[in-house]
Amino acid sequence: MKKFMFAAFIAFWACIATLLAVQAMSPEPGSTEADNDLPEYSLADVAEHDTQASCWMAIEGKVYDFTNYIPKHPTPPFVMEQWCGREATEGMRTKGYGPDHTAAAWAMMEPYLIGTLVD
Ligand code: HEM
Repeated sequence: MKKFMFAAFIAFWACIATLLAVQAMSPEPGSTEADNDLPEYSLADVAEHDTQASCWMAIEGKVYDFTNYIPKHPTPPFVMEQWCGREATEGMRTKGYGPDHTAAAWAMMEPYLIGTLVD
């Protein structure tokens, strides 16, 4: 009986330790996408990356580095390249000729987010 009590005691504290470890490793609620922690860039900073070799865009107050995405975009590269180094919300909203991108396309931007736009 003593052995059983001892095993139960160890198992109980092992559970507690595991729970505490898991909690310590999980991010705090609401702080996963800490936009506030992103670097701030001005339009002048963005303008320095105006080629296919280094292509930043400012879209709806955020700054993206699309250099690695351009080869994956379903058009020839020049279509996106015209908007590199610029405030490109219009390009994203109109594709350069009218219709907005799909929600799926907007969602694909997230991995390329590098900062927030400041004046
Ligand atoms: C800002 C400059 C951009 C311009 C001018 C532009 C333009 C276009 C054009 C002309 C098409 C193909 C024709 C069409 O579907 O009607 C297209 C499709 C598409 N683009 Fe862009 N694009 C831009 C940026 C982006 C970005 C940043 C992403 C995602 C990271 C993206 C994702 C897509 C996708 C997924 C499609 C397929 C159709 C859709 O889902 O809307 N594009 N874009």
